[in-house]
Amino acid sequence: MWNKLNDSQQYYTESNDNDGIPIIYIHGFPFDHTMWDGQINILPERFRSITYDVRGHGQSESLTVHYNFEFFVDDLFALIDILELKNPILCGLSMGGYIALRANERRPNSFKALILSDTRSEGDSNEAKIKRATAIKSIEEQGAKKYAEDSVKNLFWEENLKANIPAVEKIKAIIENTSTTTLCGTLMALAARTDTTESLENITIPTLIMVGEHDPITPPIAAESLHERINDSELKVIKNAAHLSNLENPEQFNSCLLEFLEKIQ
Ligand code: MLT
Repeated sequence: MWNKLNDSQQYYTESNDNDGIPIIYIHGFPFDHTMWDGQINILPERFRSITYDVRGHGQSESLTVHYNFEFFVDDLFALIDILELKNPILCGLSMGGYIALRANERRPNSFKALILSDTRSEGDSNEAKIKRATAIKSIEEQGAKKYAEDSVKNLFWEENLKANIPAVEKIKAIIENTSTTTLCGTLMALAARTDTTESLENITIPTLIMVGEHDPITPPIAAESLHERINDSELKVIKNAAHLSNLENPEQFNSCLLEFLEKIQ
């Protein structure tokens, strides 16, 4: 389904339109809503799963030339407002987690719970900013296909690159199909995003943090730092997974998710 959110048409899906507790899944960069295919149908009926494509990604368009992280949060708020969702749960992986944390900072505690997977609160270090510049240069010179091939080597645990070929191919295809404008624009937006660390101690809603044990991009130490700062948060380390823990070990990821959601009323 499409909605006009702010200036662009944004694509979203709903598992049902009942009165269940809404849970919005926010994908990482540069993926789309289908990265959550293994999660949306496992929830009890009292939940209503919503996925969407962040502007420029998947089937969502972007009419902006300049990408800014705040626009991603504006779009999430527009989706919440259009669907009239009351206190949704936010479940974000990596960039999705950055969006969830910034959304919670802008509308403090207006969410029922947070699920933060393979993510961090800190903004980019100088080293990370320089890496983004290198990535932009490479995408402009060599295109999205090469970027996809290089990216999966960091996204998946090396064992899973061989053992989970369907997931690897799916992610590669999604990246290849993302426009270079969105890839480069989002890299710029990620480099310029704000740091949400200071707001973590104000979070009073139930929070689940998950991280792949081999995640090289947002490593367990970043998850531990979130856990230390967010009161009463839970931390689960997902075995045999790197950055895409929900795709690499869906069994453990889903069981942690369900166990956490069981406590949400
Ligand atoms: C993601 O998976 O969303 C990205 O790795 C986030 C990032 O590049 O910081």
